[in-house]
Amino acid sequence: MDLNQLLDQLYSQHYFISEDFIPNSLTQSLFEEGYRLWDEGDYRSARIGNGTDEQLKTEIRSDKIHWLNEQQLTPVQQEYWNRIDELRGEINRAFYFGLHDFEAHFAVYPEGSFYKKHLDQFAKTPYRFVTCLLYLNKDWKPEYGGQLRIYLPDSEDYFDVEPTFGKFVCFLSGSLYHEVLPSKRERFSLTGWLRKEKVLFGV
Ligand code: OGA
Ligand code: MN
Repeated sequence: MDLNQLLDQLYSQHYFISEDFIPNSLTQSLFEEGYRLWDEGDYRSARIGNGTDEQLKTEIRSDKIHWLNEQQLTPVQQEYWNRIDELRGEINRAFYFGLHDFEAHFAVYPEGSFYKKHLDQFAKTPYRFVTCLLYLNKDWKPEYGGQLRIYLPDSEDYFDVEPTFGKFVCFLSGSLYHEVLPSKRERFSLTGWLRKEKVLFGV
């Protein structure tokens, strides 16, 4: 994987997709951890919006999430954090974005779940700057649905990404609308955002 190529793509097309940005062994460990937490029932229904605007709207999104706590990362989560920190440094060096922080959650889309077309950056608190997705689905097949549909900037044109094990997708949170098509199988991912400001609790 050539980091310069990724940065070029982030600049020119506002996204990049890599099969080897995250080492396979790390993806495997994250997969095991995410699955264990799921088995232990440690996920809750995801909400939309933030702060006082936050709402549970299952007609918009129906995934379940488990937030990672930066103060209590497991060794595996820390390894992922470090890799993302390297990326953050490179992005800041290349684009002067001034990204300070990272926040992330595991996400499970139970059978029949989806996330309608949206932007990750909130209008009132535009702190999320770069979305980072790592997919954790082994032997995923196109007929299972659950594709990430990415719309090109200022356009109705789109392309679909299969959420296959180890695939890392990164895009500008304020620029690309996207959605998760209804998934016919349980679908796992680790979703995070590089941020401009410190994470304030609940904001
Ligand atoms: C999100 C999201 C996409 C995916 O959580 O905001 O758009 O492919 N996830 O899981
Ligand atoms: Mn999103």
